Amino acid sequence: MSKKLTEAREYEANESKRISPKQRPVFHVTPYIGWLNDPNGFSYYKGQFHLFYQYHPYSIEWGPMHWGHVVSDDLLHWKYLPCAMTVDAEYDKNGVFSGSATELPDGRQLLMYTGVSEIQEPGSELKKNCQTQCLAIGDGLNYQKWKNNPVIDPSMMPEGTSKEDFRDPKIVPQEDGTYRCYVSTKASDGGGEILVYRSEDGFHWEYSNILTKNGNRVGKMWECPDFFTLDGKQVLFVSPMEIRMGQIENRIGYCSIAIVGTVNPETGKLDEEWMQPMDYGIDFYAHQTMTAPDGRQIMVAWMQNWETTSERGENFPWMGQMTVPRELWIEDGRIHQRPVRELDACRTNPVKLDKQIIGSEEIHFDGVEGRVLDLTLRIRPADEAGYHAFRLRFAEDESRKNYCEIKFRPDKCELSMNRLHSGSCRALVHKCTAPVRDQNGELTLRLILDRFSAEVFLNGGEQTMSMVYYTDIAATGIGARTEHGNVELSIEKYDIV
Ligand code: FRU
Repeated sequence: MSKKLTEAREYEANESKRISPKQRPVFHVTPYIGWLNDPNGFSYYKGQFHLFYQYHPYSIEWGPMHWGHVVSDDLLHWKYLPCAMTVDAEYDKNGVFSGSATELPDGRQLLMYTGVSEIQEPGSELKKNCQTQCLAIGDGLNYQKWKNNPVIDPSMMPEGTSKEDFRDPKIVPQEDGTYRCYVSTKASDGGGEILVYRSEDGFHWEYSNILTKNGNRVGKMWECPDFFTLDGKQVLFVSPMEIRMGQIENRIGYCSIAIVGTVNPETGKLDEEWMQPMDYGIDFYAHQTMTAPDGRQIMVAWMQNWETTSERGENFPWMGQMTVPRELWIEDGRIHQRPVRELDACRTNPVKLDKQIIGSEEIHFDGVEGRVLDLTLRIRPADEAGYHAFRLRFAEDESRKNYCEIKFRPDKCELSMNRLHSGSCRALVHKCTAPVRDQNGELTLRLILDRFSAEVFLNGGEQTMSMVYYTDIAATGIGARTEHGNVELSIEKYDIV
């Protein structure tokens, strides 16, 4: 093991002792210490779920990227393992960037990642960033970078693509025992493009074809590709940067999308059928999936995005968290999501209330409060007059001045999520709106809270909205009211342990 990796492992083991479990979410992954961004190498190996992550142990800021590592039996209770990789080779001295994992036929685990280094441009003093694809082999705890790294370098890229933006390999084993790998790059028009590589053994790679091109339809560079089959369709996940309003619904900036279609066997190109944002909230990026042994396709994402990283807890020793792992399926021409079913076993203290009539005065329900819970609301107009808006506040303090809020406008078919009053001292995006399906004022919301985050699953999972917030943990109130008119509400609440 390199000196740098030994140092990182000693550092995190010692420094993480400063963090009490109370300062972390209960079932969402946070870094062992320091900074976390993208999920990496999400996989099932030797009887456990493994999740790696983009990691900078030495500060709560992004820095030279390491891979952190956690394992779990149920995707909810995670155990820290020592740092898996650090910047200790010439070809990755500026960063061990995002990637993926698979199991080799001989039982070893193979990690594939982007090594970031720099090259001197011919005839210039300038050094340019260079991204290549590399491997590490391990046993679920310790990993050895492969002696022949990098395995995919810029000489293996088609004409007109960028070696500075060439990253985030997703390795996918094929039924015939070979492998494919999907890597993001930038075409000469500045738009993202997904390249496909193939390999007989996972170690020796050759360029195959272009899966699909952005052509500046949705944002510019596309990061973090993932590619899998779901309910008979082929799904490409990408995380576009610099999206403009109107390119994909009402999303702007960084967003994570799915492109669904079928691969043309002749050309290897994805014949696209539809695109959808994978989340409509404030904090969601770099989503990645794995196939569980029971066949479920499970997704996890970084619950943050590059434009909102100044939203953080005061004096928190960690920065960055993952979403709850979510099961995916296709229904009515859309990818749906729900929290993994393992969460059901962690639910306790049920409260069920039916046919509650809510008007414009805020109501708090007995037994319905807390910062770690699973809350389902069914909303419908109480009478023919209907209602103008329904508002649900959570993480509300006793002064009622600090809270987060979800607001539904049936006339506009819009659901918004808002942390403007959560106590943030940053002037950044604090509100997001999702255009929702018209159901004559009816809506089902499942809200998952875990101390510093809220994830909303709408109408049985057809849309989701996620955000983080760092309101004082003593703010546990939950209250509902309408604007003009009455709503009939049913509530099902569980605490999560
Ligand atoms: C996405 C990303 C990846 C890159 C990593 C670096 O959030 O920019 O493209 O590999 O983060 O930390």
